Amino acid sequence: MAEYWYTMRDEIFADGLRGRLPRLPADPAELEQLARQHLPVGLWSFVANGAGGGRTLAANRAAFDKWELVPRMLHTDEPLSLRTELLGTRMSAPVLLAPIGLAGLAHPDGEAAAARVVRELGLAMALSNSSSLSLEEVADAAPGAGLWFQLHPPKDDELGASIVRRAEKAGYQGIVVTVDSWTRGWRPADLDHGYDPFLRGQGMGTFLADPVFRRSLPTDVPVGSEPWLAAAAARWREVFGHSSLSYEYFDRLREATDLPILIKGVLHPDDAEQAVAHGVSGVVVSNHGGRQLDRSMAALDALPAVARQVAGRVPVLFDSGVRSGADAAVALGLGADAVLLGRPWLYGLAIDGAEGVRHVLRCVLAELELTMLMSGAATVADLRRMVSPVRGRADER
Ligand code: FNR
Repeated sequence: MAEYWYTMRDEIFADGLRGRLPRLPADPAELEQLARQHLPVGLWSFVANGAGGGRTLAANRAAFDKWELVPRMLHTDEPLSLRTELLGTRMSAPVLLAPIGLAGLAHPDGEAAAARVVRELGLAMALSNSSSLSLEEVADAAPGAGLWFQLHPPKDDELGASIVRRAEKAGYQGIVVTVDSWTRGWRPADLDHGYDPFLRGQGMGTFLADPVFRRSLPTDVPVGSEPWLAAAAARWREVFGHSSLSYEYFDRLREATDLPILIKGVLHPDDAEQAVAHGVSGVVVSNHGGRQLDRSMAALDALPAVARQVAGRVPVLFDSGVRSGADAAVALGLGADAVLLGRPWLYGLAIDGAEGVRHVLRCVLAELELTMLMSGAATVADLRRMVSPVRGRADER
């Protein structure tokens, strides 16, 4: 692997000289449009849209425009490294793949392709509990990859514990508990398409392989047959999403695993505080990419206060709206220890499988690195001094 991520820029120009153009665009908006051409309309709408009128989806992006970098010049004296270690997982950069369910619908190689790229680039990925493949299949596809497992707490604690133990056994290095999507948000686009992939038994790879889950499935029909899958989808609807969770859930989950447990979906600093009080090892500031609660605040607007509240006791991660390396730099500058990349990796996968995921990630990392180099930030910590509210004046700083 190249010493610097940004050398990809020079590779692309060298290829251009020989008449070869990249198959994927570097521009995130064009990436989204190209992915649209590769996905059936129902699936495309499911991935791209947000809840309600899409205000939170838009606010997530607009929030980045409230911040600016004030770069400093003629400073380069030490080599930049994005290497980082988060809760025992070593990463070549503070960028993870966000958990996105149903990747197998976007491309037949699904989550396995993403995990292989993550291993190749030395990054990490939080595998969704709604993956098309089972958690073991994904781990087996990329031994040694930096993998965390994301869980929506099921109503059945025994099932949750079983899944988490399997993840630990399969080599996952962290458990990310998502708390903002115990039920589906109001998503007009999905309603208009009558599109719910879960009703079709999709996104259940990990559940279908679970001994506790399987106990409740009929034994008088062949495993994998249509009636078996229909029963599985019905059971899944019964157990998926815990509507009456409290922070004590983290105390119970702690008994099932020694892995670090993170909470995903926090916006209010008091929620972060409670989670830390209940022993979580990390907080992910996120509003689920605007898919859940329309008119909820932009995730980036929530980040500084949560980071202040947590005050370094545990790592703070961020997602919802990161599209580029410059976005990642702003989030890191506002107190995130790492960012999760969401929709863009799925778009890359939809367009070109593993190759597409690789391209998307390398673009983000190249731009993050260039942003730091050109700002005079040798470390992520340096970025914290360089990001400030848009004022358009450098001399007041
Ligand atoms: C998600 N997200 C998500 N989160 C989670 O914890 N478990 C999951 O299974 C899923 N599934 C999922 C599917 C699809 C199609 C999308 C787009 C998103 C949310 C995801 O982890 C992340 O929070 C958002 O994608 C961040 O927003 P952006 O940056 O993608 O806009």
